[in-house]
Amino acid sequence: MADLTREIKRRRTFAIISHPDAGKTTLTEKFLLYGGAIQSAGTVKGKASDRHATSDWMDLEKQRGISITSSVMQFEYDDYCINILDTPGHQDFSEDTYRTLMAADSAVMVIDAAKGIEPQTRKLFKVCAMRDIPIFTFINKLDREARDPFDLLDELEREFGIGTYPMNWPIGCGVNFKGVFDRERRSILAFDEFHSGRNRIEGISCDITDVEKMDSLIGEYDRRALVDQIELLDVASYEFDLEKVRHGKLSPVFFGSALNNFGVEPFLKSFLEMTTSPLPRKAGEQVIDPFDEKFSAFVFKIQANMNKAHRDRIAFMRICSGKFERNKEYLHVQNNKVAKLSQPQQMMAQEREIVDCAYAGDIIGVFDPGIFSIGDTVCDPTLKFTFERIPTFAPEHFAIVEQKDSMKRKQFAKGMNQIAQEGAIQMFFEPNSGMERVIVGVVGVLQFEVLEYRLKHEYGVDIIRRPMPQQYIRWIENEKIDPTKLTLDTDTKWVQDYRGNNLLIFPREWSIRWALEKNKDLVLKEFHEG
Ligand code: G4P
Repeated sequence: MADLTREIKRRRTFAIISHPDAGKTTLTEKFLLYGGAIQSAGTVKGKASDRHATSDWMDLEKQRGISITSSVMQFEYDDYCINILDTPGHQDFSEDTYRTLMAADSAVMVIDAAKGIEPQTRKLFKVCAMRDIPIFTFINKLDREARDPFDLLDELEREFGIGTYPMNWPIGCGVNFKGVFDRERRSILAFDEFHSGRNRIEGISCDITDVEKMDSLIGEYDRRALVDQIELLDVASYEFDLEKVRHGKLSPVFFGSALNNFGVEPFLKSFLEMTTSPLPRKAGEQVIDPFDEKFSAFVFKIQANMNKAHRDRIAFMRICSGKFERNKEYLHVQNNKVAKLSQPQQMMAQEREIVDCAYAGDIIGVFDPGIFSIGDTVCDPTLKFTFERIPTFAPEHFAIVEQKDSMKRKQFAKGMNQIAQEGAIQMFFEPNSGMERVIVGVVGVLQFEVLEYRLKHEYGVDIIRRPMPQQYIRWIENEKIDPTKLTLDTDTKWVQDYRGNNLLIFPREWSIRWALEKNKDLVLKEFHEG
């Protein structure tokens, strides 16, 4: 038991989020270097060809040289056992990204100092905020021209509606980047251009009151400017409050340069100190304590075709309590079946390994013969509960999908159902229509291509896909409403999900407001549980 508590206590499970190109991969790589999980930079990302040499992702990913699906990595640092949940690093992302955030206890948000908040950061933030998970901000690329740091903080506070607390403060940027001021230690960490290699360099520390040394490091002009800015910051910024940080109301902000390895280790250290070990999770009325001895987990992601030769699916689950043991039998609650989980594996840096045991906070991937769905609960057979379902996120692109060859109806239905079960797409139906004509909704348009590709290659079905003008979806919350009686504008469409719930899809935001105005009893919701 002592062992179990110790193991769980030292676990930290976080997602790393950013808009593409902000530096997420570079930062992750530095974390892994500190943990000794990789020996050289370039291992995480590399060129597309290197990366795919180690894993067998889908051909489509290979063709594009992008990672469509999120991955998970585990490494050790300073006696912490860290699980990083990576989110796809391209413009177009799917619900998978959102779901990954459901498995994390906190998030690291990487922001490009020249760009500030970008569209993808905005979307991801919204999901973090829904769960009140702590968000730690790393403002990256200070070695390049950057926006005014006060402006950047202002933007974060204004757009996200949370407080920020700069843990350090940049001194200049671009060619004039001199380092950062550590607010807790009241000293500066100087950035030395010679240290811009990818080594583990900390910079030179100096007490801010040591005028002579300060001037020799950053010059009198920058010292004076810094002193003024710090004075302003101390008066005007939020007070540090760990409780607020832990409830996602105050984001500690760090400035640095991932590529130059500047400010990365101090960031990692503070981050680990401020975050908690795995948090309790809700299962209906019950709250599941991670330190409970009995194993429980929920499926947050299903990945098809990890290995083409086996045409397998891997179900990724986040362990919420206790210890997982490879040879024990567990209950898959939704199926009401007890079985061993086959080939349980973890990603250690970039290697997949079969694991004998894992603890609350860890992510394991198990072989899935097609039985798991997103949100399913797996637990000790003596337990009886189901974790709260993962909300269904609002798709933003819709298309009508039909099979070209009507003889392939069975394969089409099977493929569509399986792919929807994995959570890669959402299916909707025109009321009273069957499986011949399906409305597919996706969060990112790339998912349409994935669907088309997979139906062709895995199920032998060619499809016709007709894009629809709608972009917004809302579930009708009040069951008593008769959708046929609603007053709607011409491009707004009434559809149903596979459970028969009624929804409306709208071409523009304006139409939503119009519908609400014209139909006083109508209650609409953007997210749908389960
Ligand atoms: P992402 O995962 O968020 O998409 O970003 P990634 O780490 O791949 O970084 C995007 C680009 O930004 C990379 O350049 C990377 O080297 C660069 N970068 C990351 N951190 C910093 C930083 O602190 N300073 C500067 N100046 N650049 C940074 P690239 O040319 O697109 O790729 P590569 O050829 O260097 O791999």
